[in-house]
Amino acid sequence: MSERTLVLIKPDGVERGLVGEVIGRIERKGLKLVEMDLRRVDRKLAEQHYAEHDGKPFFESLLEFITSGPVVAAVVEGPHAISAFRQLAGGTDPVGKAAPGSLRGDYGLEVQYNLVHGSDSVESAERELKLWFPELQA
Ligand code: TYD
Ligand code: MG
Repeated sequence: MSERTLVLIKPDGVERGLVGEVIGRIERKGLKLVEMDLRRVDRKLAEQHYAEHDGKPFFESLLEFITSGPVVAAVVEGPHAISAFRQLAGGTDPVGKAAPGSLRGDYGLEVQYNLVHGSDSVESAERELKLWFPELQA
């Protein structure tokens, strides 16, 4: 079953010149890029995107961070695309959780600066894709 997932390369990944590395890994895994662009995220989109974390201690600084510079937003497609990209990304905490060999495990040190976002379920993917790429058909 083919799935679609939302992938973001966060401001740290763009700033550090890791766009090619992230996209290369997605392509070499066999996943397909359906849409991709570089954009600035406004406060409203950031709040909607991270709504599930509203009220948590890291929410404010997460919003500040994600709106601090351009991000790459991409629609990635393929069999098991949602979990396949989460596997490429690695666990949320780059040192505590992400395995070496994953993007966060190889390139990250701090949980806030963990380089990439990938939708975590079919429901999240549907919600996030609508938010970031409203022009796309479901
Ligand atoms: P979360 O959805 O739990 O992680 P993931 O990106 O792996 O789906 O959290 C969203 C982002 O919030 C996470 O990528 C980095 C940030 N964050 C923190 O800054 N501190 C924290 O303690 C947690 C759990 C997340
Ligand atoms: Mg998440």
